[in-house]
Amino acid sequence: MRVGIVGIGAISPMHINGLMSCGQEIVALCDVERSRCEAAIEKFGLSSECYTDYTEMLNNSALDAVHICTPHYLHAPMIIEALGRGINVLCEKPLCINEEQLTDIENAVKGSKAQLAVCLQSRFNESAVFVKDYFNDKQIIAAAANLTWRRSEEYYAADAWRGTLDKEGGGVMINQAIHTLDLLSWICGMPKSVIAYVSNNSLRGKIEVEDTAHGLFFLENGGTFVMNATNASAKNLPNYMSFTDGEDVLEISSNNLIVNGKQVMTDGGAPIFGKVEWGTGHAKLIREYYGCIARNEKFPIDFDEAKKSVKMIFKMYQSFGERLDI
Ligand SMILES: NC(=O)c1ccc[n+]([C@@H]2O[C@H](COP(=O)([O-])OP(=O)(O)OC[C@H]3O[C@@H](n4cnc5c(N)ncnc54)[C@H](O)[C@@H]3O)[C@@H](O)[C@H]2O)c1
Repeated sequence: MRVGIVGIGAISPMHINGLMSCGQEIVALCDVERSRCEAAIEKFGLSSECYTDYTEMLNNSALDAVHICTPHYLHAPMIIEALGRGINVLCEKPLCINEEQLTDIENAVKGSKAQLAVCLQSRFNESAVFVKDYFNDKQIIAAAANLTWRRSEEYYAADAWRGTLDKEGGGVMINQAIHTLDLLSWICGMPKSVIAYVSNNSLRGKIEVEDTAHGLFFLENGGTFVMNATNASAKNLPNYMSFTDGEDVLEISSNNLIVNGKQVMTDGGAPIFGKVEWGTGHAKLIREYYGCIARNEKFPIDFDEAKKSVKMIFKMYQSFGERLDI
């Protein structure tokens, strides 16, 4: 397929490698900084055309699909432009940054034959798939996740969109912890309400967004799950998640999957791969996305699935300790 990528920044190599590994043709790259496209062409040995204007790329490159790897506030307008031209979209997370954008994207999806997919690649982690299958016909009654990371002042200062409400749309929840929250709801089921509190504990006056968030989510079955996330830690700790139905307890701790206290190994004797940090599942997700398009099947992480994490996060931002329906 003829593929274009917009936004040739930090995450773009994951998309370029993923596309190359499944034989897609990267015919166009677009970035407001042309030198970033040129550097990628050189580094990966591509013969793509370079654009600095996204609309021009869509109009001139006869694309079958576009990957959107730009700052968060641009996802919605870029999705809508591509879907309006019948071009398939694989957009980086988050789907969008507010309810208005969500409604606009929904309308664009309804009016287009093209497929919208969102890069929530942690759903392809072996450990997450194992836990989801394990509890498939059971009711999870309690789950918890901790994301304890460090994002320094320099991190936010490095790119103008980071740490801003209008361009990033939020902080640790919408940027870093969205994958973990997505896994919680994918495995436990979509919660019906939330009590949350978000705050900026370490960079007041330096960033507009939260660096710390706590959410208590209420499930239809009477169970609950808890999400704790911070970017204000002294250093990055491994992500941790636990799930129980009252009979069994499963834990994902970085690379380890633990069932009732016992580490699960693969047939080859290695620990089950359970990395939930960003980046690891891109290649699998991209291969599966193009497989679905080729077979004329619906890719599983579509608008309806991707809207769940942003809806939960929007409510976390509004809650300030009040219980809100999602
Ligand atoms: N799935 C994951 O695990 C994962 C990991 C990291 C980042 N991301 C997401 O990827 C996206 C990009 O993040 P990043 O870290 O690569 O950011 P980045 O700032 O490094 O790159 C963004 C690029 O977009 C370009 N850009 C900005 N406005 C543009 C426009 N109007 N037209 C064309 N190009 C434009 C910038 O020049 C920059 O090169 C974000 O949505 C981020 O949340 C996802």
